[in-house]
Amino acid sequence: MKYKINNLEQYEEQYQEALSKPKEFWNKIAQEFSWSKKWTEVCEFDMINAEFSWFKNAKTNITENCIDRHLKDKGSQTALIFEPNAPKDKAEHISYNELHKRVCKMANALLALDVKKGDRVAIYLPMIPELSIVVLACARIGAIHSVIFAGFSSSALAARINDASCKIVVTADGGFRGNKTIDLKSIVDEALKDCPCVQHVIVAERTKTEVKMHPSRDNYLNDLLQNASEVHEAEPMDAEDPLFILYTSGSTGKPKGMVHTVGGYMVYTAYTFKNVFAYEQGDVYWCTADIGWITGHSYILYGPLLNGATSILFEGVPTFPNPGRFWDVVDKFGVNQFYTAPTAIRALAKESLEYVERYKLSSLKVIGSVGEPINEEAWQWYHKNIGKGNCPIVDTWWQTETGGILISPIPHVSPQIPTYATTPLPGIQPILMDNSGAEIKESEGEGRLCIKYPWPSIARTIWGDHKRYKETYFSAYPGYYFTGDGARRNKDEMYRITGRVDDVIIVSGHNLGTAPIEDAINEHDEIAESAIVGFPHDIKGNALYGFVTTKSDIKDEEQLKKDINALISAKIGPIAKLDKIQFTSGLPKTRSGKIMRRILRKIAEGNLSDFGDISTLLNPEVVKQIKDGRDA
Ligand code: WT7
Repeated sequence: MKYKINNLEQYEEQYQEALSKPKEFWNKIAQEFSWSKKWTEVCEFDMINAEFSWFKNAKTNITENCIDRHLKDKGSQTALIFEPNAPKDKAEHISYNELHKRVCKMANALLALDVKKGDRVAIYLPMIPELSIVVLACARIGAIHSVIFAGFSSSALAARINDASCKIVVTADGGFRGNKTIDLKSIVDEALKDCPCVQHVIVAERTKTEVKMHPSRDNYLNDLLQNASEVHEAEPMDAEDPLFILYTSGSTGKPKGMVHTVGGYMVYTAYTFKNVFAYEQGDVYWCTADIGWITGHSYILYGPLLNGATSILFEGVPTFPNPGRFWDVVDKFGVNQFYTAPTAIRALAKESLEYVERYKLSSLKVIGSVGEPINEEAWQWYHKNIGKGNCPIVDTWWQTETGGILISPIPHVSPQIPTYATTPLPGIQPILMDNSGAEIKESEGEGRLCIKYPWPSIARTIWGDHKRYKETYFSAYPGYYFTGDGARRNKDEMYRITGRVDDVIIVSGHNLGTAPIEDAINEHDEIAESAIVGFPHDIKGNALYGFVTTKSDIKDEEQLKKDINALISAKIGPIAKLDKIQFTSGLPKTRSGKIMRRILRKIAEGNLSDFGDISTLLNPEVVKQIKDGRDA
């Protein structure tokens, strides 16, 4: 990557160039990749109808850029280090040469099952090397991967498989997470009762637990690989062919399958990885996310591999076998860039400092944060104890929809301000909108965060529902991409993200829509209605509070609370369970029948007065009742 930003002057230069001549700017950056055919147009877009194309008519394959391109110079360099869940198990180092072989073999195994370019492949795997290899193999043959986080329940999995009519599901017998074992194959079996589109299941072996194999449908991965050749020529893909679908929650019960395409995603994740993490050849980089989320797609796999980096895949959890695990792994591999979530930082900061002090952590150069706002206390703890006061913290703001990081400090270039994601990267034009829908022109201000101009890795659509894509992101402020976040800008034009302004709540860094949770609860026979809000939580950032009305008198409140959480676990996954549940006789509503969540949020936070304007409230008597019966 030539376009490394080394100082403030270079940042200003690139930012100005991307602002005044965006096409020239991205044209230059895209030259660094290998394309079998160049583009006829750098970018075409329509921000009203939400249509974008980058590097139009160009041909490439992202895996050629992630792998083949590096074989000549760094074939024997480690591409991926797999650190297993149990520290006593040996780590696996996969060189670029070996990655090439394994991806080609996997590509041929998929082809043998008749997976074709454009087919959708659901991937429901733990964080084992096969996960990366299947993802890359799909990209290599032009199949569209849809990775579904292996913590999702069978019905959440089924909904995602059906939404994209996936032909194949790749899973494992089971997965290890801390001291738990999760029976992934049986979750898949349950899901597939409702998925007629699936023709084959591929089962990787991890836990060696016994699984039921359906003879005509299921195949062990190892059997398929045995007959597969190590030679495979990457499928030439159009820059605008879909690379993957990744689901995110939204304001209805149906998850949104965000679609990212090959060319723009490749260029943008490579450019941002290089600059945000100041990655230099030979560095060991570690992002603790799961590949089931966008962070893992862009900054465990694609971004690092496009830069020929060494990237760690970690199967475990931060607290197993003890809260020193992250720091143990940092010292073990001499990690130079470490990227994690505020919820993990807060959880580890609560533990004894001895877990940190056992380790040197002297290899660290840059430490990062992603997924939710990082509070000042967590920022300071991270800076002092992990960064030892001399590692810049990159507080990176972005979304599944943005494909890559949009606002972040650049190490040793941007100033450090705790809790601020600071400045937009070159090519990104953030703006703030006030309540009346007008742009806030002054430097200082607080409003809704929008982006004015497209960047290469902006999602192209919601799978199968372009209308919803347009409505969700491009209709609140016509002509602009609306992020769903609020932000504050200081006098130096630095951004601080304040949190979601829509009905998405971020719990432990997981993006949860309130609607799907309410839908799950409302399926219970005894439940009439429910409303979910977030309230501040020391470790998770936010936790969930449910206000629930029942159809008739409740016999056993504790049992019903348990049933509700069991239902949520089954429909969505344990990450969406409620911390607090309050049964009420009604919910505060406006005259037009909308639940006044603002009031419920205040009550959940413990703020029992100051409800603002309640003149449109239909049933004020309910509010008093809810206040009195608060689940404290
Ligand atoms: C939402 C997107 C992008 C990778 C992980 C989450 C919140 C993300 C930050 C940050 C404050 C952040 C936003 C955003 N968020 N990073 N550095 N500071 N908030 O992806 O699940 O699509 O969630 O995460 O609210 O909209 P996602």
